Amino acid sequence: MPKHFRNEFRAELAVGFCPGCYMVQLTNLVEQEHLYNDEYAFFSGSSKGMSKHFQEFAEFIMQHYLPTDDSFVVEVGSNDGILLQHMAKRNIKHLGIEPSANVANIATKRGVESLVEFFNVTTAEKVKQTHGQADAILGANVICHIPDIHSVAKSVKALLKPNGVFVFEAPYIANTIRKTAFDQIYDEHAFFFGVHSVVNCFSRHGLELVDVMERNVHGGSMRYVLAHKGAHEVTSKVKQLLVLEDHLGLLKIETYQDFAKSAEKSRDQLKQLITGLREQGKKIVGYAATAKSATVINYCGLTPEHIKYISDTTPAKQGRYSPGAHIPIKPYEIFKQDKPDYAILFAWNHADEIMAKEKNFIKRGGKWIVFVPEVAIVENVKQ
Ligand code: TMP
Repeated sequence: MPKHFRNEFRAELAVGFCPGCYMVQLTNLVEQEHLYNDEYAFFSGSSKGMSKHFQEFAEFIMQHYLPTDDSFVVEVGSNDGILLQHMAKRNIKHLGIEPSANVANIATKRGVESLVEFFNVTTAEKVKQTHGQADAILGANVICHIPDIHSVAKSVKALLKPNGVFVFEAPYIANTIRKTAFDQIYDEHAFFFGVHSVVNCFSRHGLELVDVMERNVHGGSMRYVLAHKGAHEVTSKVKQLLVLEDHLGLLKIETYQDFAKSAEKSRDQLKQLITGLREQGKKIVGYAATAKSATVINYCGLTPEHIKYISDTTPAKQGRYSPGAHIPIKPYEIFKQDKPDYAILFAWNHADEIMAKEKNFIKRGGKWIVFVPEVAIVENVKQ
C-alpha cells in the first residue's frame, strides 16, 4: 500500500444555498493547510488554452487598469506566475501572493515576485506597508477557493487604491447548473459564485460590482470587476445579468434541487455505461487527473476495475493515485502508446485543445466517454 494512502483524508461534499444572499457554497470545508502546501499539484501553465487565456487577461488589465509607470498589481493565488509574468516582462510593479511554495518557486524563476502566504488582512496590511496600495488586485479561479470570503473583502478594501479595481474570475454558477457540471463541486471550490451572490457579499464591505464578462475557461467562467463604492460607473451588463439570473431561477432553492436530481441521473447513467462496457471486456482509461475527476469517480463509485489508469501531463501527479478510489495516474506517454477502447474526458473544459491533439486516438478506434452536459459516447467533443 503506497505510504500516501495512510495520510489520506476524506471530506463530505455537501452544498448549501442561502435564500437571503443567494450564495451557493460548500457546507463542510476542508482545512486550508490540507489543500495548499508545498505539494500543490495544479500548475496553471499545464494547458496551452490557459496560457492563452492568461495572456488575454494580463493584456486586459494592463490596458484598462494599470495607467501609469508606477502602477502596482497584486495577484491572489498567483500559482506558477502564468499571469503576472506578462507584467514582470514589462517591468510593471507586481506581487504574487501564493501559499503553495512549490508553485510559487516556479513563478520566482520566471521573474515574478512572489510572497508565500495566504491572502488575509494581516498579509494585506504587510503588503500595504512594504509595497503600497494596489491599482489592481487579481484572482483567477482562486477567490472561490478561500472559505473566509469576508476576510478577502476586508483585505481588498485595505489594499486597494481609491480608484483601483479588484478583478476575479470563477466558474459561473449559471453554467454549472445549465451543464449539470456537478464535478465543479470539489474540496477546493468553497463558493459557486453568481452575479447576485458577488454583489451581496462584497457590498457588505463597501465594494461595488461595476462590470462582468463571460469567459470560456474552467467550463464557463465569469470575470467580475469590483471597485470601492461610487469610484467607477456600473455597466449595464451587470444589471442585465441580474435580471437574467432571476429568469434562470438562480434565486430559488428549487433550481438547485433540480440540479441535484440531474446530477444523480448523470451519475447513474455514467456508472451504468461504464459497467456495461467493462462487462463486454472493453478497456477504459481516464483522460486528465483533474480535481473535478475526484468528484466524478467517488460520486459514481468507480474503481480501478472500471478505469485502468488516468493519464495526465503533470509530472507531480504521475505515479500517484486518484483520491479515494486509488486509480493509478500515469504519464501521458503511456496513453499515447496504449490502445484503450474508451477514454473518459475528465478535462472536458479543455476539449478544444485535447480534440486537436488526439486525432490518432480516434483513428486507432478509440472513443470518448463524456458526462457534461450529458452522458454519451462520442468521437468529437466541442467545448
Ligand atoms: P483543470 O481542468 O483543473 O484545468 O485541470 C487540467 C488537468 O488536466 C491538469 O492536471 C493537466 C491535465 N491535462 C492533460 O493531462 N492533458 C491535456 O491535454 C490538458 C489540456 C490537461
